[in-house]
Amino acid sequence: MNSVIVVGSFNVDHVWRCADLPAVGATIAGQYATGPGGKGFNQAVAAARAGARTAFVCALGDDAGGRLAREPAAADGIDLRAEASGQPTGTAGIYVDARGRNTIVIGAGANGTLGAAHVTAAPELLRGARVVLAQLESPPAAVEAALAAAREAGATAMLNPAPANAPTSAGLLRLADIVTPNETEFAALLSRHVGERVEPEAVAALDGASLHAACRKLLPHGTVVVTLGAVGAFVSHAEEDLRGDAQTYYRVAAESVSASDTTGAGDAFNGALAAALARAPEQPFATHVRYANRFAALSTERPGAAPAMPRHDEVMARFGA
Ligand code: RIB
Ligand code: NA
Repeated sequence: MNSVIVVGSFNVDHVWRCADLPAVGATIAGQYATGPGGKGFNQAVAAARAGARTAFVCALGDDAGGRLAREPAAADGIDLRAEASGQPTGTAGIYVDARGRNTIVIGAGANGTLGAAHVTAAPELLRGARVVLAQLESPPAAVEAALAAAREAGATAMLNPAPANAPTSAGLLRLADIVTPNETEFAALLSRHVGERVEPEAVAALDGASLHAACRKLLPHGTVVVTLGAVGAFVSHAEEDLRGDAQTYYRVAAESVSASDTTGAGDAFNGALAAALARAPEQPFATHVRYANRFAALSTERPGAAPAMPRHDEVMARFGA
C-alpha cells in the first residue's frame, strides 16, 4: 500500500547554467544538462526518498521523454501510474544563474491531457493512502478529482498551488486540507481570492499576525504553509485543528546551506512534508515542517530537479533528528 499519492506533471528538464539570466535579445553561453523533472515527479521522488511508499499519477507521451520517466521512477521504487497521452511528454526549458536563481518555460504536452477519470480510475490506489499531493501543472479537473478522492478516502488532501500563474478557483482551494504556496504564489492567491494586494518580496517581512489573518481568509478551515525560500516557512492553522502544534501560527527558520541550484527546492519541501506527515501523523506539524526545510535545503546543494533530492539518511546525517 502506498502512503503518499502524488498526482501531477512529469517534464523532461532542459537546463542551461549561465552567469546571468539572458536579457531580451541577448545570446549567451551556458552549460547544458538534461534530466527528469516536473513538479509532480520531483515531489514524488522527494516523498519516496524521504521514506514514504509513493505512487505517482501522471500522463506521458509515447516517446523518449516518457521512457525517461520510467527508469528513475523504478529506481526510487515509485508506483508509476501513467496515462498514455497522444501528446508529447512535457518539457521545461530552465536557465539557472550563478546565484542559483532560475527562470522556467513549460511545454505542458501530455501533462495537459491528464484526465480526472485517470486519477479516479484505480480506487485501490487510494486505499491506505495517508496524503494525496497535487500541484497546478495538471488540468484543474484532475487536481480537483485528486483532492476530492483524498477526502473521500480519509487521506489528507495537500495542494501545492504552483506555478503562480496557474488558474485556481475558490472551490479548488477549499478541497485542500493543507495548501503550500511560496511568496509569489501566496501573493497571487491573495489578490485573486481575498482581494488583498501584497508584493511577493514583501511577504517574508510581514508580521506573523498579519500573515496569519491573510492565511485564514484564504483557507478558513485548513492549514497554510507559506514557503519563504532562504528565510524558512510560515505556518498558519485553523483554530479548530492545530495538527498537534501548540501555536496557531509560527515561523520555522531555514537551514543555512550554500545553494547552487534552487530548481525543485519547493518540490523537495512538499514531497518531504507529505512523507513526514504520512509517517507520523500524530507528531506535531512543526516537526514535519522542520524536516521538510532540511530536506529542501540539501536539494539546493545539487544540480537538477528530481535527481537532486536527498535521501532520508542523508538528512539525518547532516542535521540530526
Ligand atoms: O519546480 C521545478 C520544476 O518546475 C522543474 O522540474 C520543471 O520541470 C518545472 O515543472
Ligand atoms: Na537542485
